[in-house]
Amino acid sequence: MKAEILALAGDGIGPEIVASAKRVLARVAEKFGHEFVFSDALIGGCAIDATGNPLPAETVAAAHKADAVLLGAVGGDKWDNAPVRPEAALLGIRKELGLYANLRPAKLFPSLAGASSLKDEIVAKGIDLVTVRELTGGIYFGERGYRNGKTGREAFDTECYSEIEIERVARIAFELAEKRRHTVCLVDKANVLTSSKLWRKVVTDINEDYPSVRLDMMYVDNAAMQLALNPSQFDVILTSNMFGDILSDLTAAIVGSIGVMPSASLGATAVGMYEAIHGSAPSLAGLDVANPVGTILSAAMMLRLSFDLADEADAVETAVARTLDAGLGTRDIGGTLGTRALTDEIVARI
Ligand code: IPM
Ligand code: MG
Repeated sequence: MKAEILALAGDGIGPEIVASAKRVLARVAEKFGHEFVFSDALIGGCAIDATGNPLPAETVAAAHKADAVLLGAVGGDKWDNAPVRPEAALLGIRKELGLYANLRPAKLFPSLAGASSLKDEIVAKGIDLVTVRELTGGIYFGERGYRNGKTGREAFDTECYSEIEIERVARIAFELAEKRRHTVCLVDKANVLTSSKLWRKVVTDINEDYPSVRLDMMYVDNAAMQLALNPSQFDVILTSNMFGDILSDLTAAIVGSIGVMPSASLGATAVGMYEAIHGSAPSLAGLDVANPVGTILSAAMMLRLSFDLADEADAVETAVARTLDAGLGTRDIGGTLGTRALTDEIVARI
């Protein structure tokens, strides 16, 4: 097949890890006889430097035209006081592309068990879960502002969810569970939040369309504790934008390193966006030490979800697993290799 992939390398370690994922995709193209055409555009701090805007209109237009988007990372201390921060571009492009569902798989590679933050006996039960995080609604996009209150300055952010927003991401979670272990756990704060009560109603109704999937519900505070105590109980976690942001960092810690966690953002149009869940790590930029695995596994998700190339995705995931099993890795996972050398090892195993 032929596909056009827009690479948005961004800031910090972004260019290095995106270069790694491109090399992996080029190897897949060579081996399986596909043609991947790459183009690049600016996003984040580098876009602020070049154009004054973290999300230039040309970048949005290029993303709409592409078949899939591969994103590095955005942000850095350099732009902390910029009028519009680089992170705004990330939220902006998610919204522009209508990417309402963010899939964040957390799977324990046996070779990384030692890097998990959990005790051996908990890790031994296995961790293989996917957080399905709502990505274009809730408190990230609700009404917000500053005002003068009776006692001084006040600031507010609003969590608002419509039925449609809940329903469409719930369907993604149920469809995913049908292909996995048939369980969805809705994580919310329905003992306090009205919006969570609507989530419970809507998700319970949608569950009727997926009779083979069991729906559990858990308050987010308990879910955080359960993830730390007994993560093997989870299959698909369905949750709101902010709870998903928080819990997915926790799931990264329990599978060993935030450096190995991929993600896929899917939605209204055919264009999906793929990125590691970690940030731009400015202190590591340009040193050839960043872990490319999260972005490489994100590229595998692109092959599977945007291009329907399951064998090719398997080939990448297997190559990563074999490389890690061989004891190879970057520093964050106890290895000694640099970004490029680890990528060489993975490419050689495809
Ligand atoms: C993530 C990040 C972003 C988010 C930030 C950088 C805006 O933490 O993708 O998890 O909160 O969504
Ligand atoms: Mg986050």
